Amino acid sequence: MKIHFVGAGPGDPELITVKGARLLEEADLVVYAGSLVNPALLEKLKARLVDSNTINLEEINGIMLEALEKGEKVVRLHSGDPALYGAILEQMRPLEEAGVEVEVVPGVSSLFAVAATLKTQLTLKGVSESLIVTRPAGTTLEKDQIRDLSRFGTTMAIFLGTDKIKETMRSLEVSTDTPVAVVYHASWPDERVIIGTVKDVADKVEEAGITKSALILVGNVISRSGFGRSHLYRSR
Ligand SMILES: C[S@@+](CC[C@H](N)C(=O)[O-])C[C@H]1O[C@@H](n2cnc3c(N)ncnc32)[C@H](O)[C@@H]1O
Repeated sequence: MKIHFVGAGPGDPELITVKGARLLEEADLVVYAGSLVNPALLEKLKARLVDSNTINLEEINGIMLEALEKGEKVVRLHSGDPALYGAILEQMRPLEEAGVEVEVVPGVSSLFAVAATLKTQLTLKGVSESLIVTRPAGTTLEKDQIRDLSRFGTTMAIFLGTDKIKETMRSLEVSTDTPVAVVYHASWPDERVIIGTVKDVADKVEEAGITKSALILVGNVISRSGFGRSHLYRSR
């Protein structure tokens, strides 16, 4: 018995890996993260489809195990890359305990789709050499580290937090002129990009009516300027 946890990519159906697409085609059962997996990826599949947003963890694990025991090919499809806020370990553990072999197939995270949309780098010589990936406190996280982390002054990618953007911007200990980009549905046909600063981006996002399915990127890499030449291309 073997299950594949597959990264679906950020939305554009062409941004899944070749391996992920093949596994989807071969699958008998696909359990997918309904809110952020583009339905276009699921069209024409022969597999039975189950939206994981409509059932709880025990039900998800039960459905997948039952199919595996029948000898079916099962794919658990996560948005972006499963390693970021994918909650895959709590699904893997009971399956592994039941003797199921697990393989993870990486995907293009929305983080990279956002960088592509903004046509910038997340790490940029002379601007930011590091990247912080984090999320604000909410129903499933009691306390966040955003204030402390912001003091590093590096690029910050904030997942799962568009509805808390006002509080998040207030908690940042960086110059209020620091650029902030909020990208909704990166790589989807209805993608939207809001560019502002720590001072004004929350109002712009509120005006645009965006409350979810967006990534917040904070940092000077957004302005695509002030960088030094890397040594990669120096003449020899
Ligand atoms: C449960 S997390 C999953 C992240 C996913 N594993 C990834 O690598 O992109 C869901 C959050 O990811 C972000 N997200 C996922 N897909 C997105 C997209 N296409 N555009 C912008 N943000 C996205 C949003 O912050 C959303 O609230």
